[in-house]
Amino acid sequence: MPSVLAARLAAIAKACRNDFRPRCELTAQMRNGIRMILLTGGAGYIGSHIAVALLDSGLDVVAVDNLCNSNRASLDRVQTICGRSLVFRHVDICNEEAIYEILRTHGVTAVIHLAGLKAVGESSTQPMTYYENNVVGTMRLVSAMSRADVKMRIPLDVAQHSEMISPTIPI
Ligand SMILES: NC(=O)c1ccc[n+]([C@@H]2O[C@H](COP(=O)([O-])OP(=O)(O)OC[C@H]3O[C@@H](n4cnc5c(N)ncnc54)[C@H](O)[C@@H]3O)[C@@H](O)[C@H]2O)c1
Repeated sequence: MPSVLAARLAAIAKACRNDFRPRCELTAQMRNGIRMILLTGGAGYIGSHIAVALLDSGLDVVAVDNLCNSNRASLDRVQTICGRSLVFRHVDICNEEAIYEILRTHGVTAVIHLAGLKAVGESSTQPMTYYENNVVGTMRLVSAMSRADVKMRIPLDVAQHSEMISPTIPI
């Protein structure tokens, strides 16, 4: 019986890997000019899944995260799953100079911005912390991108279940 159970669990795990692994299909037009993607909040729940999709599609990733709500181990697992490496930088998006340096050093051509605090209750009890992190952080990120001449585009539809993000909409 234990071996039957083990076989069933292995089959379920295999099905999960095949069915739920995020896919990222880029048209040649979308891929044009996109090489290195900065993924903010890359160690988080959505970020780590997007990292898998990006690496699987052949793109390069520099993941930035301050690890306030995540663990670097998630990105180690991403690299194991994909059999490819990414760059990880332990940086806060509020640190504009550090973000600017990353954009320039790694030749970033596109950004996917997921870094943020998102606990509903906490956002009510600590509104200024959330404002500083999410609003000011995004403004600093955008400012660094502007200085580094990085076009804000998300040219991919990460999962079949997510909204389609038009390549023509700068986000
Ligand atoms: N999970 C969902 O169902 C869902 C749905 C819609 C939208 N979103 C949004 O997507 C984003 C990511 O969500 P998630 O579920 O992956 O959350 P998450 O908490 O798992 O990931 C967010 C990541 O951002 C990092 N981070 C936070 N502030 C940072 C900062 N100042 N600098 C650098 N890193 C920072 C955290 O450490 C974490 O790893 C959030 O903005 C969230 O509001 C999530």
